[in-house]
Amino acid sequence: MPGTVIVGTQWGDEGKGKFTDYLAKEASLCVRYQGGHNAGHTIIVDGEVFKLQLVPSGVLYPWVVPVIGNGVVVDPVVLLDELDMLESKGIDPRRIRLSGNAHLIMPYHQELDRVTERYLGKNKLGTTKRGIGPAYADKAMRVGLRVQDLFDPKIFRQKLDLALREKNGLLTKVYNRLPVDADALAADYLALAPRLEPLVDDTVHLVHQALDAGQWVLFEAAQATFLDLDHGTYPFVTSSNPVAGSVCAGAGVGPRDLDRIVGIVKAYTTRVGSGPFPTELLEGTPEGDVLVDRGREYGTNTKRRRRAGWLDLVMIKQAARINTCTEIAITKLDVLSQFETIKVCIAYEDESGTRYDHVPYHQSVMHKVRPVYETLPGWAHDIERAEQLEDLPAEARDYVRFIEEFAGVPITFVSVGPERDQTVVRPRAA
Ligand code: GDP
Ligand code: IMO
Ligand code: MG
Repeated sequence: MPGTVIVGTQWGDEGKGKFTDYLAKEASLCVRYQGGHNAGHTIIVDGEVFKLQLVPSGVLYPWVVPVIGNGVVVDPVVLLDELDMLESKGIDPRRIRLSGNAHLIMPYHQELDRVTERYLGKNKLGTTKRGIGPAYADKAMRVGLRVQDLFDPKIFRQKLDLALREKNGLLTKVYNRLPVDADALAADYLALAPRLEPLVDDTVHLVHQALDAGQWVLFEAAQATFLDLDHGTYPFVTSSNPVAGSVCAGAGVGPRDLDRIVGIVKAYTTRVGSGPFPTELLEGTPEGDVLVDRGREYGTNTKRRRRAGWLDLVMIKQAARINTCTEIAITKLDVLSQFETIKVCIAYEDESGTRYDHVPYHQSVMHKVRPVYETLPGWAHDIERAEQLEDLPAEARDYVRFIEEFAGVPITFVSVGPERDQTVVRPRAA
């Protein structure tokens, strides 16, 4: 049985965590394939809130094996804290499998993330300062340390010394920081090895065993299509590839191992950090403030206020193509309930009046485009308790249909609240 991918179609925080948890009930494996603890995935079950950064969102079901794939970058301290958090909530974290090939985020990666942002000044990217970019850069430079290195102190130390030769020069001579002490760092990291070792596995093999046995495997993205290093609004992106195709590299499967790609679309748009955002409603704009307040648009981990704006269907259409979405799940439709009318962006226009029906590849164009809106009627009453499509007001159903027709992809789920059971399943033919 081929696998299913859950992928963000905007700039992250679409509700991937909630939706992965919703679907994972039927799964055997739930696999993260990229990113690191820059992700913040929230799941709410019967009022209990789970905030996950590294552990896949299928972890709440005891029969699901959560897998951290080779494409993820792992801060071992954060991972162990997350395991403790899960254990304190009665969830057995010993099922989690961690790829020995995943790269480690080291303290100097976090330090470099902080200082490079500071040096960029007003051009800063607004990263999560978790060391993600520097860790992936080292992976590409082939000077990264991997999870498996933790279990061979001699090799760990050799690789660390090599890495620090360059990093300490950079930290002290370029950024005027203190050098990293190799002895202390090696001691700290190697002390974590005994707790991590039982989790480490050949995750590529595990995934193939499950697929071969006809079990259902879910792949959960972190970040999203427009934060993708290649397909996002570069340079205002993350340093990995969240797009569905990247499951192949980040988890070790082939394109034919995937047959269902669910694009998660928030009913409006948000973005954290810098970068272009054509439909943005700036802070202080009444409609933007309503989206942020009602949608509680503050970072799961960083607590930063998210920028908010109307739904951008130009982006959604592009995301549907890039990820070959077979279906779409709409989240946070309940947040739109207060509006008399709702705008959706159906094209862009530049200063000279040139119209774009697709996301322009050129950054100078993308930074300057203005949204062309279609105005749709809103609905008066709250929809949090809707259980099926018919429970939604006609205007809400029309909104869903409008997205579906524009994107050319069927919408199979509509989320009307953060709780696991606030999910409307839409039969394909409806
Ligand atoms: P992720 O990074 O894509 O997993 O999304 P986050 O968890 O960072 O952000 C989504 C936020 O919206 C979380 O606080 C969720 O609890 C919440 N959420 C998810 N789906 C819904 C929904 O349908 N309605 C509302 N009101 N909140 C939702
Ligand atoms: P989830 O999985 C929203 C953003 C940061 C910054 C840019 C680069 O919860 O959707 P990085 O630390 O990755 O180098 O930062 O990417 N960013 C996210 N925005 N949701 C996320 O994850 C994000 N992960 C990174 O705000 O603009
Ligand atoms: Mg998030």
